[in-house]
Amino acid sequence: MSVADLQPDGSVSYEFYLDGTAVPALEYPVLAAALPARVTAVHVGTLSLVVEPIASSIERLVTADLPPDVLVMVDPNCRPGAIADRDAYLDRFERILHRADVVKASAEDLAYLCPGVPAEVAATTLLGDKGDQPALVLVTDGPRPARAFLSGGFGGAGGEVSVDVPKVTVVDTIGAGDAFGGAFLAWWSAAGLGRDELSSAEPVRAALRAAAQVSALTCTRSGAEPPLLSEVAGTDGWPPTVG
Ligand SMILES: Nc1ncnc2c1ncn2[C@@H]1O[C@H](COP(=O)(O)OP(=O)(O)O)[C@@H](O)[C@H]1O
Ligand SMILES: [Mg+2]
Repeated sequence: MSVADLQPDGSVSYEFYLDGTAVPALEYPVLAAALPARVTAVHVGTLSLVVEPIASSIERLVTADLPPDVLVMVDPNCRPGAIADRDAYLDRFERILHRADVVKASAEDLAYLCPGVPAEVAATTLLGDKGDQPALVLVTDGPRPARAFLSGGFGGAGGEVSVDVPKVTVVDTIGAGDAFGGAFLAWWSAAGLGRDELSSAEPVRAALRAAAQVSALTCTRSGAEPPLLSEVAGTDGWPPTVG
């Protein structure tokens, strides 16, 4: 269970109460059995990379048991207050990175993962060029532009893409990051794209705009309530098409 402490500007800090809840209890056989027969993309992150046994179950799924064509997105969504052993957490994150295709990280996440360096340096540190690190790192920073850092490996040109975030009246930012990651993945899958296209700047830019649109809209509502597809139809990037 998490308790959200809302600040006047809509930003939030969280307290987590996990003892005695079912949250961490996901054992690998249950997780594996719950996967549909055909999976195109998997999104993992937050406390499921922190608490046991779910963290080991997620790591095993991602690093050992997913078919190679499945796109893996990781949002560390670091919650320092819930991480008892930072080194062990970073080691697990690193192991997962070797199979991750896309990382979605907020500026705050990057400051936790790679302290003391600018977000763009941290983001490019997470990128690899040998085919065993992510092809793409998405960096969000609240109302400031959302950016994507593309790997120069994988035959891609590398570089950075940046899009402005729509200006909205914020009720709270609960669920904004999840809405961003979910929208990026939904856009990417609906446009018929997969792992191979992640090094192409133009579809990445379009997906980023679509994700910024969805997450900004989520900030105009109370709680983690991302919009339905029908609610974003006709706004920037929706429906998904590759130009
Ligand atoms: N104040 C805001 N105004 C408009 N959009 C916002 C605002 N805060 C967040 N968003 C949207 O949500 C996305 C994710 O927000 P951010 O706060 O960076 O991530 P997280 O929720 O993971 O901390 C941003 O890229 C932006 O599109
Ligand atoms: Mg986040």
